[in-house]
Amino acid sequence: MKRIGVLTSGGDNPGLNPCIRAVVRAGIHHGLEVMGIRRGYTGLLSGEVEEMTARSVGGIIGRGGTILGTARCPEFYKPRGRRDALRTLNRFGIEGLVVIGGNGSLTGALELWRAGFPVVGIPSTIDNDVNGTDISIGVDTALNTILDAVDKIKDTASSHNRAFLVETMGRNSGYLALVSGIAGGAEMVLIPEVETKFEEICHTIEDAYVRGKSHCLIIVAEGWRPGTQALARQLVERQEELGFSVRVTQLGHVQRGGAASAFDRLLATRLGAAAVKALISGGGGNIVGWVRSTITLTPLEEAVAFDKQPSPELVELAEIMEK
Ligand code: F6P
Repeated sequence: MKRIGVLTSGGDNPGLNPCIRAVVRAGIHHGLEVMGIRRGYTGLLSGEVEEMTARSVGGIIGRGGTILGTARCPEFYKPRGRRDALRTLNRFGIEGLVVIGGNGSLTGALELWRAGFPVVGIPSTIDNDVNGTDISIGVDTALNTILDAVDKIKDTASSHNRAFLVETMGRNSGYLALVSGIAGGAEMVLIPEVETKFEEICHTIEDAYVRGKSHCLIIVAEGWRPGTQALARQLVERQEELGFSVRVTQLGHVQRGGAASAFDRLLATRLGAAAVKALISGGGGNIVGWVRSTITLTPLEEAVAFDKQPSPELVELAEIMEK
Protein backbone atom coordinates (compact mmCIF):
# COMPACT_ATOMS: atom_id res chain seq x y z
CA MET A 1 0.00 0.00 0.00
CA LYS A 2 1.47 3.35 -1.07
CA ARG A 3 -1.32 5.89 -0.80
CA ILE A 4 -4.21 6.15 1.64
CA GLY A 5 -7.10 8.58 2.05
CA VAL A 6 -8.75 10.09 5.11
CA LEU A 7 -12.14 11.73 5.51
CA THR A 8 -14.31 13.09 8.32
CA SER A 9 -18.04 12.50 8.01
CA GLY A 10 -21.29 13.21 9.88
CA GLY A 11 -21.59 15.48 12.92
CA ASP A 12 -18.32 17.20 13.80
CA ASN A 13 -16.60 17.29 17.19
CA PRO A 14 -13.35 18.68 18.63
CA GLY A 15 -11.48 15.36 18.28
CA LEU A 16 -11.51 15.41 14.48
CA ASN A 17 -8.49 17.63 13.84
CA PRO A 18 -6.24 15.76 16.31
CA CYS A 19 -7.34 12.56 14.58
CA ILE A 20 -6.66 13.80 11.04
CA ARG A 21 -3.24 14.96 12.23
CA ALA A 22 -2.50 11.53 13.67
CA VAL A 23 -3.55 9.69 10.50
CA VAL A 24 -1.43 11.98 8.32
CA ARG A 25 1.69 11.86 10.49
CA ALA A 26 1.43 8.12 11.17
CA GLY A 27 0.90 7.51 7.45
CA ILE A 28 3.98 9.54 6.52
CA HIS A 29 5.95 7.76 9.27
CA HIS A 30 5.09 4.43 7.60
CA GLY A 31 6.18 5.73 4.18
CA LEU A 32 2.67 6.36 2.79
CA GLU A 33 1.23 9.28 0.91
CA VAL A 34 -1.90 10.57 2.63
CA MET A 35 -4.71 12.20 0.68
CA GLY A 36 -7.31 14.32 2.46
CA ILE A 37 -10.86 14.03 1.13
CA ARG A 38 -12.95 17.15 1.71
CA ARG A 39 -16.55 17.24 3.03
CA GLY A 40 -16.83 13.55 3.85
CA TYR A 41 -18.54 11.26 1.36
CA THR A 42 -19.75 14.32 -0.59
CA GLY A 43 -16.15 15.12 -1.52
CA LEU A 44 -15.46 11.47 -2.20
CA LEU A 45 -18.24 11.45 -4.81
CA SER A 46 -17.16 14.71 -6.41
CA GLY A 47 -13.40 14.09 -6.26
CA GLU A 48 -12.38 16.79 -3.77
CA VAL A 49 -9.03 15.26 -2.89
CA GLU A 50 -5.69 16.84 -1.96
CA GLU A 51 -2.37 15.61 -0.65
CA MET A 52 -1.69 16.24 3.02
CA THR A 53 1.75 16.77 4.51
CA ALA A 54 3.15 16.78 8.02
CA ARG A 55 3.08 20.59 7.77
CA SER A 56 -0.49 20.84 6.49
CA VAL A 57 -1.68 19.38 9.79
CA GLY A 58 0.62 21.56 11.92
CA GLY A 59 -1.08 23.60 14.66
CA ILE A 60 -4.48 21.91 14.39
CA ILE A 61 -4.40 19.67 17.47
CA GLY A 62 -6.14 22.30 19.60
CA ARG A 63 -8.56 23.55 16.92
CA GLY A 64 -12.21 22.54 16.98
CA GLY A 65 -14.10 21.53 13.83
CA THR A 66 -12.39 19.68 11.00
CA ILE A 67 -9.92 21.14 8.50
CA LEU A 68 -11.27 18.66 5.94
CA GLY A 69 -14.89 19.72 6.45
CA THR A 70 -17.69 17.24 6.96
CA ALA A 71 -21.15 16.53 5.57
CA ARG A 72 -24.09 14.19 5.75
CA CYS A 73 -24.37 12.65 2.28
CA PRO A 74 -27.55 10.66 1.47
CA GLU A 75 -26.44 10.14 -2.19
CA PHE A 76 -23.53 8.00 -1.05
CA TYR A 77 -25.93 5.35 0.25
CA LYS A 78 -27.41 4.77 -3.22
CA PRO A 79 -25.64 2.23 -5.50
CA ARG A 80 -24.62 5.01 -7.87
CA GLY A 81 -23.03 6.94 -5.02
CA ARG A 82 -20.86 4.03 -3.99
CA ARG A 83 -19.82 3.46 -7.58
CA ASP A 84 -18.75 7.12 -7.93
CA ALA A 85 -16.86 6.89 -4.63
CA LEU A 86 -14.88 3.87 -5.85
CA ARG A 87 -14.19 5.72 -9.09
CA THR A 88 -12.67 8.67 -7.20
CA LEU A 89 -10.55 6.34 -5.08
CA ASN A 90 -9.23 4.64 -8.23
CA ARG A 91 -8.67 7.93 -10.00
CA PHE A 92 -6.43 9.22 -7.22
CA GLY A 93 -4.64 5.89 -6.72
CA ILE A 94 -5.91 5.59 -3.14
CA GLU A 95 -5.50 2.02 -1.90
CA GLY A 96 -6.91 2.28 1.61
CA LEU A 97 -9.27 4.66 3.41
CA VAL A 98 -9.68 5.89 6.99
CA VAL A 99 -13.23 7.03 7.76
CA ILE A 100 -13.64 9.12 10.93
CA GLY A 101 -17.30 9.33 11.95
CA GLY A 102 -20.31 7.97 13.81
CA ASN A 103 -22.76 5.17 13.07
CA GLY A 104 -24.00 6.52 9.72
CA SER A 105 -20.50 7.22 8.44
CA LEU A 106 -19.22 3.82 9.57
CA THR A 107 -22.18 2.16 7.82
CA GLY A 108 -20.92 3.91 4.68
CA ALA A 109 -17.44 2.52 5.39
CA LEU A 110 -18.93 -0.96 5.66
CA GLU A 111 -20.52 -0.54 2.21
CA LEU A 112 -17.12 0.31 0.70
CA TRP A 113 -15.56 -2.67 2.48
CA ARG A 114 -18.29 -4.94 1.11
CA ALA A 115 -17.48 -3.58 -2.35
CA GLY A 116 -13.92 -4.85 -1.81
CA PHE A 117 -12.18 -1.65 -0.73
CA PRO A 118 -9.89 -1.66 2.37
CA VAL A 119 -11.42 0.71 4.95
CA VAL A 120 -10.76 1.25 8.63
CA GLY A 121 -13.23 3.26 10.74
CA ILE A 122 -12.54 5.50 13.73
CA PRO A 123 -15.56 6.02 16.03
CA SER A 124 -16.14 9.71 16.40
CA THR A 125 -19.45 11.04 17.68
CA ILE A 126 -20.45 12.93 20.80
CA ASP A 127 -23.45 10.55 21.06
CA ASN A 128 -21.10 7.68 22.11
CA ASP A 129 -23.39 5.09 20.54
CA VAL A 130 -20.89 3.13 18.40
CA ASN A 131 -20.20 -0.48 19.43
CA GLY A 132 -16.63 -1.70 19.71
CA THR A 133 -15.33 1.20 21.78
CA ASP A 134 -15.97 2.31 25.35
CA ILE A 135 -15.76 5.91 24.25
CA SER A 136 -15.79 7.69 20.90
CA ILE A 137 -13.70 10.69 19.94
CA GLY A 138 -15.35 13.96 20.99
CA VAL A 139 -17.41 12.64 23.89
CA ASP A 140 -15.09 13.80 26.66
CA THR A 141 -14.84 17.36 25.33
CA ALA A 142 -18.61 17.57 24.85
CA LEU A 143 -19.11 16.39 28.42
CA ASN A 144 -16.77 19.06 29.73
CA THR A 145 -18.68 21.70 27.76
CA ILE A 146 -21.97 20.45 29.17
CA LEU A 147 -20.62 20.44 32.72
CA ASP A 148 -19.36 23.99 32.36
CA ALA A 149 -22.87 25.06 31.31
CA VAL A 150 -24.58 22.96 33.98
CA ASP A 151 -22.45 24.48 36.77
CA LYS A 152 -23.37 27.96 35.55
CA ILE A 153 -27.06 27.13 35.22
CA LYS A 154 -27.04 25.79 38.77
CA ASP A 155 -25.80 29.17 40.00
CA THR A 156 -28.72 31.05 38.51
CA ALA A 157 -31.19 28.25 39.30
CA SER A 158 -30.22 28.45 42.99
CA SER A 159 -30.38 32.23 43.09
CA HIS A 160 -33.95 32.23 41.75
CA ASN A 161 -35.11 28.92 43.26
CA ARG A 162 -36.02 27.43 39.89
CA ALA A 163 -36.30 24.06 38.24
CA PHE A 164 -34.26 23.85 35.01
CA LEU A 165 -34.58 21.48 32.11
CA VAL A 166 -31.19 21.34 30.38
CA GLU A 167 -31.23 19.57 27.02
CA THR A 168 -28.10 17.81 25.78
CA MET A 169 -27.52 16.43 22.28
CA GLY A 170 -28.15 12.78 21.46
CA ARG A 171 -30.60 12.09 18.66
CA ASN A 172 -31.22 8.50 19.76
CA SER A 173 -28.76 8.25 22.58
CA GLY A 174 -29.02 9.26 26.25
CA TYR A 175 -25.31 8.82 27.01
CA LEU A 176 -24.38 12.52 27.26
CA ALA A 177 -27.43 13.31 29.38
CA LEU A 178 -26.86 10.34 31.66
CA VAL A 179 -23.19 10.95 32.31
CA SER A 180 -23.45 14.73 32.60
CA GLY A 181 -26.37 14.17 34.99
CA ILE A 182 -24.16 12.05 37.23
CA ALA A 183 -21.14 14.35 36.99
CA GLY A 184 -23.24 17.53 37.20
CA GLY A 185 -25.29 16.53 40.23
CA ALA A 186 -28.70 16.54 38.51
CA GLU A 187 -31.87 15.67 40.38
CA MET A 188 -33.11 13.66 37.41
CA VAL A 189 -32.03 12.45 33.97
CA LEU A 190 -34.45 11.78 31.10
CA ILE A 191 -33.11 9.55 28.31
CA PRO A 192 -34.78 7.75 25.39
CA GLU A 193 -33.60 4.34 26.62
CA VAL A 194 -35.50 4.56 29.93
CA GLU A 195 -39.22 5.28 30.24
CA THR A 196 -40.13 8.00 32.75
CA LYS A 197 -43.72 9.02 33.48
CA PHE A 198 -44.78 12.68 33.71
CA GLU A 199 -46.00 12.15 37.27
CA GLU A 200 -42.53 10.90 38.32
CA ILE A 201 -40.98 14.08 36.96
CA CYS A 202 -43.50 16.23 38.84
CA HIS A 203 -42.82 14.24 41.99
CA THR A 204 -39.03 14.79 41.67
CA ILE A 205 -39.46 18.55 41.34
CA GLU A 206 -41.97 18.83 44.19
CA ASP A 207 -39.87 16.58 46.41
CA ALA A 208 -36.75 18.70 45.81
CA TYR A 209 -38.75 21.78 46.81
CA VAL A 210 -40.25 20.20 49.92
CA ARG A 211 -36.83 18.93 51.05
CA GLY A 212 -35.52 22.48 50.95
CA LYS A 213 -33.27 22.26 47.88
CA SER A 214 -32.47 25.61 46.29
CA HIS A 215 -33.09 24.32 42.76
CA CYS A 216 -33.98 21.23 40.75
CA LEU A 217 -31.88 20.33 37.74
CA ILE A 218 -33.19 17.87 35.17
CA ILE A 219 -30.97 16.86 32.23
CA VAL A 220 -32.97 15.82 29.17
CA ALA A 221 -31.50 14.00 26.16
CA GLU A 222 -32.50 15.46 22.79
CA GLY A 223 -34.00 12.10 21.79
CA TRP A 224 -36.26 11.78 24.85
CA ARG A 225 -39.96 11.91 24.00
CA PRO A 226 -42.26 13.85 24.07
CA GLY A 227 -39.34 16.31 24.03
CA THR A 228 -37.95 19.05 26.26
CA GLN A 229 -40.21 21.87 25.09
CA ALA A 230 -43.38 19.78 25.35
CA LEU A 231 -42.37 18.76 28.87
CA ALA A 232 -41.63 22.37 29.82
CA ARG A 233 -45.11 23.45 28.67
CA GLN A 234 -46.73 20.74 30.80
CA LEU A 235 -44.61 21.62 33.84
CA VAL A 236 -45.26 25.35 33.56
CA GLU A 237 -48.99 24.61 33.85
CA ARG A 238 -48.27 22.83 37.13
CA GLN A 239 -45.52 25.07 38.53
CA GLU A 240 -47.68 26.59 41.28
CA GLU A 241 -48.13 23.21 42.93
CA LEU A 242 -44.57 22.03 42.16
CA GLY A 243 -42.97 24.85 44.17
CA PHE A 244 -40.24 25.80 41.68
CA SER A 245 -40.92 27.79 38.54
CA VAL A 246 -39.55 26.17 35.39
CA ARG A 247 -36.98 27.32 32.81
CA VAL A 248 -35.38 25.55 29.82
CA THR A 249 -31.88 25.67 28.30
CA GLN A 250 -31.13 23.76 25.10
CA LEU A 251 -27.36 23.53 24.81
CA GLY A 252 -27.38 22.65 21.11
CA HIS A 253 -24.35 22.81 18.86
CA VAL A 254 -22.11 24.50 21.43
CA GLN A 255 -21.52 20.88 22.55
CA ARG A 256 -19.76 20.10 19.27
CA GLY A 257 -17.31 23.03 19.27
CA GLY A 258 -14.18 24.16 21.07
CA ALA A 259 -10.70 22.76 21.60
CA ALA A 260 -10.42 19.05 22.34
CA SER A 261 -9.78 18.02 25.95
CA ALA A 262 -6.48 16.30 26.85
CA PHE A 263 -8.29 12.95 26.88
CA ASP A 264 -9.76 13.49 23.41
CA ARG A 265 -6.44 14.64 21.93
CA LEU A 266 -4.76 11.53 23.22
CA LEU A 267 -7.57 9.19 22.20
CA ALA A 268 -7.78 10.73 18.72
CA THR A 269 -4.02 10.45 18.29
CA ARG A 270 -3.93 6.83 19.45
CA LEU A 271 -6.84 5.75 17.27
CA GLY A 272 -5.61 7.71 14.23
CA ALA A 273 -2.19 6.04 14.39
CA ALA A 274 -3.79 2.63 15.08
CA ALA A 275 -6.08 2.99 12.05
CA VAL A 276 -3.10 3.49 9.75
CA LYS A 277 -1.34 0.47 11.23
CA ALA A 278 -4.49 -1.61 10.79
CA LEU A 279 -4.79 -0.61 7.11
CA ILE A 280 -1.15 -1.48 6.42
CA SER A 281 -1.36 -4.86 8.14
CA GLY A 282 -4.50 -6.06 6.38
CA GLY A 283 -6.95 -5.02 9.10
CA GLY A 284 -9.42 -3.43 6.67
CA GLY A 285 -13.11 -3.93 7.46
CA ASN A 286 -12.68 -2.99 11.13
CA ILE A 287 -13.01 -0.04 13.43
CA VAL A 288 -10.26 0.79 15.88
CA GLY A 289 -11.73 1.35 19.33
CA TRP A 290 -10.69 1.92 22.92
CA VAL A 291 -11.88 -0.98 25.05
CA ARG A 292 -10.70 -1.33 28.67
CA SER A 293 -7.83 1.10 27.94
CA THR A 294 -6.59 -0.99 25.01
CA ILE A 295 -6.75 -0.42 21.26
CA THR A 296 -9.07 -3.04 19.84
CA LEU A 297 -10.23 -3.98 16.34
CA THR A 298 -13.94 -4.74 15.86
CA PRO A 299 -15.53 -5.67 12.50
CA LEU A 300 -17.42 -2.74 10.99
CA GLU A 301 -20.41 -5.02 10.70
CA GLU A 302 -20.56 -5.46 14.49
CA ALA A 303 -19.75 -1.84 15.22
CA VAL A 304 -22.82 -0.57 13.36
CA ALA A 305 -25.17 -3.51 13.95
CA PHE A 306 -27.14 -1.54 16.57
CA ASP A 307 -26.83 1.65 18.60
CA LYS A 308 -24.87 1.01 21.79
CA GLN A 309 -27.08 1.25 24.89
CA PRO A 310 -26.04 3.04 28.09
CA SER A 311 -24.76 0.59 30.70
CA PRO A 312 -27.30 -0.46 33.35
CA GLU A 313 -24.62 0.29 35.95
CA LEU A 314 -24.58 3.98 34.93
CA VAL A 315 -28.38 4.16 34.86
CA GLU A 316 -28.48 2.75 38.39
CA LEU A 317 -25.73 5.08 39.56
CA ALA A 318 -27.65 8.10 38.27
CA GLU A 319 -30.72 6.98 40.21
CA ILE A 320 -28.74 6.47 43.42
CA MET A 321 -27.20 9.94 43.14
CA GLU A 322 -30.48 11.73 42.39
CA LYS A 323 -31.40 12.10 46.04
O1 F6P B 1 -24.69 12.77 15.72
C1 F6P B 1 -24.28 13.76 16.56
C2 F6P B 1 -25.32 14.83 16.74
O2 F6P B 1 -24.69 15.89 17.41
C3 F6P B 1 -26.60 14.39 17.44
O3 F6P B 1 -26.47 14.36 18.83
C4 F6P B 1 -27.57 15.45 16.98
O4 F6P B 1 -28.89 14.99 17.05
C5 F6P B 1 -27.15 15.63 15.55
O5 F6P B 1 -25.78 15.32 15.49
C6 F6P B 1 -27.40 17.00 14.99
O6 F6P B 1 -26.98 17.01 13.66
P1 F6P B 1 -26.93 18.28 12.73
O7 F6P B 1 -25.78 19.13 13.19
O8 F6P B 1 -26.70 17.73 11.37
O9 F6P B 1 -28.23 19.00 12.89
